[in-house]
Amino acid sequence: MSTQPLRIGLFGFGVVGQGLYHVLTQTDGLQAEVVRICVKDTAKQRPIASDVITYNGDEILLDPSINVVVELINDSDFAFDIVCRAMRQGKAVVSANKKLIATRLPELLALQHETGVPFLYEASTGGSIPIIRNLEEYYDTDHLHRIEGIVNGTTNYILSSLQASTSSSYQDALSQAQALGFAESDPTSDTEGFDAAYKTTILATHGFGVVAHPSDVVRRGISAIRGFDVDVAQRHWSSIKLVSRIVRSGNSVSLVTLPAFVSRKSHLAHVSGANNAIALTTDFADVQCLFGKGAGSRPTASAVLSDLSLIRDKYRYAYRRLRRSSGLTLDQRVTVSVYVRASDEQLEALPFLSVQTDHRGVEGRYIIGSMRLDELQQSTAYADRDAFVALYLED
Ligand SMILES: NC(=O)c1ccc[n+]([C@@H]2O[C@H](COP(=O)([O-])OP(=O)(O)OC[C@H]3O[C@@H](n4cnc5c(N)ncnc54)[C@H](OP(=O)(O)O)[C@@H]3O)[C@@H](O)[C@H]2O)c1
Repeated sequence: MSTQPLRIGLFGFGVVGQGLYHVLTQTDGLQAEVVRICVKDTAKQRPIASDVITYNGDEILLDPSINVVVELINDSDFAFDIVCRAMRQGKAVVSANKKLIATRLPELLALQHETGVPFLYEASTGGSIPIIRNLEEYYDTDHLHRIEGIVNGTTNYILSSLQASTSSSYQDALSQAQALGFAESDPTSDTEGFDAAYKTTILATHGFGVVAHPSDVVRRGISAIRGFDVDVAQRHWSSIKLVSRIVRSGNSVSLVTLPAFVSRKSHLAHVSGANNAIALTTDFADVQCLFGKGAGSRPTASAVLSDLSLIRDKYRYAYRRLRRSSGLTLDQRVTVSVYVRASDEQLEALPFLSVQTDHRGVEGRYIIGSMRLDELQQSTAYADRDAFVALYLED
């Protein structure tokens, strides 16, 4: 990497790409120029001069004057190709693509080792919240026990509007989120928890030195929620949130992205709308919570911008926990407290270790109790799209 001003080749000029273009014109102190922007759709009108635009990625990847590639496209397979080629050309890379990073991390780690060029991705997790760098740097010496976060703004928006009674049903809340641009026309990646699971694996790598695949995360989305579940949560002085949770226990960690009853005593219970928050529990600092916008054009671009300023300073992730080879393994055989609303048959079949509440009413039946996470995951209630399964978090 040269110490010259950053000459940026940008892939993607959508929500985040345009946000970056604008924040770069407004920031002080970063000498950077967007030299070329590669997009896909030749018919689309662009709000910038056409001489910067290209439809041929080689015009960026093979241009020796471009020293940084910023990858902001919405296709993780093609993004992998871009990132590999850019790094092999000695260009530093910034990406916001959580699916790319979560699903291809072993190859991306090898590529960083092989090429020695920086690959930074702060915007991939928690949007504007500087969580990856904090895990890399600030928490390096403290003993981290738990990372617990709301890392998907779409589901948090839907759940917030359901619980504030501004929507009468899940479908109504989803339609409202789509109309306001908080949810995509195909919301599956958000509502079924895939997006949050990608971020869970990225947090596990930087927080605990564990390289996991998103399929290692015990994941379930929010689409089964009913007004009945919201009422129960309110009676239990809790809010329902989609929570990503990485908990260390001895020499193992469990990875979860599940709806959760979150006690109103917790910081996370008060995170509303499309916001994100990540709470860290450590030995020395105790509990700390980072809060901010988890998505959106300028907030996400602000994290990309911050990565660019680090590239200028030749920063790379050290992956210290990974390199220290902490010996932590993934283990989902942990005991968790859960709320399950399901059919009588499914509830009877669940291997509860203890039962705190077994509620039977005309409007539905649910059990709150404890069981092993892996056994919950293998149950018929867990597989049933109409059953609602949530962690029951009391602290
Ligand atoms: N939106 C957010 O708030 C947010 C937050 C955090 C992270 N992210 C991540 O940031 C990335 C970008 O998201 P976005 O919301 O900005 O997406 P977007 O608005 O859908 O824009 C995607 C851009 O990628 C371009 N593109 C797609 N395939 C391409 C290809 N093969 N070659 C060149 N360009 C291609 C599109 O080109 P055309 O313009 O020609 O269609 C478009 O400009 C994604 O990885 C996303 O997960 C987004």
